[in-house]
Amino acid sequence: MKLTDIVTPFFFLASLLQMSGSSTTLRCESLLLGQYTCQEPEIDTETQSAKGCRENRTVPVPCMPAEEISCVGLDGKVMTYNGTVVGFLKEKPCRWTNGYSFETSLLLSIFLGMFGIDRFYLGYPAIGLLKFSTLGFFFLGQLVDILLIATQVVTPSDGSDYIIDYYGAGLTKIVMDKFTFVKPPDT
Ligand SMILES: *[C@@H]1O[C@H](CO)[C@@H](O)[C@H](O)[C@H]1NC(C)=O
Repeated sequence: MKLTDIVTPFFFLASLLQMSGSSTTLRCESLLLGQYTCQEPEIDTETQSAKGCRENRTVPVPCMPAEEISCVGLDGKVMTYNGTVVGFLKEKPCRWTNGYSFETSLLLSIFLGMFGIDRFYLGYPAIGLLKFSTLGFFFLGQLVDILLIATQVVTPSDGSDYIIDYYGAGLTKIVMDKFTFVKPPDT
């Protein structure tokens, strides 16, 4: 008896196990870009941001694996998709609003800022009271606040985004964090 006679069945068994293993454990979430399409979030006309946007600024959207793709779907079972059946939910970024209107804030700041009403509205009662009792730091603080609100540096104190009347406006802050991809320098 040769060594290969003993070893070959093991290889065969191992590759069988591997095949069955990989086809049952691929979750639809881990499909690669291009193997699925996702729906766009639905925009709420009241707030001009995605319906169901949550405090951590994500909204789940249904995604459909492409034709002939097999993966483990929402129900935990493997299936071969046809491009129209939802296979998983993906979190997309969105603006989270909590009832604070940009227009209202700016108008309050311009016309009633000397009484600190804009600050009360946005949820900063201490600064509001200070502005109220000093006539908006003698109008200088009012002017500063108008600029800060107009440029959206000052936002509602609960951390939400302003409701802005049309879709897509609003400033997007560009930040650098641990998820930022840093391009390696050319050599
Ligand atoms: C956002 O919050 C939802 C529920 O509150 C949670 O399921 C989801 O994992 C969170 N997403 C992130 C990126 O933190």
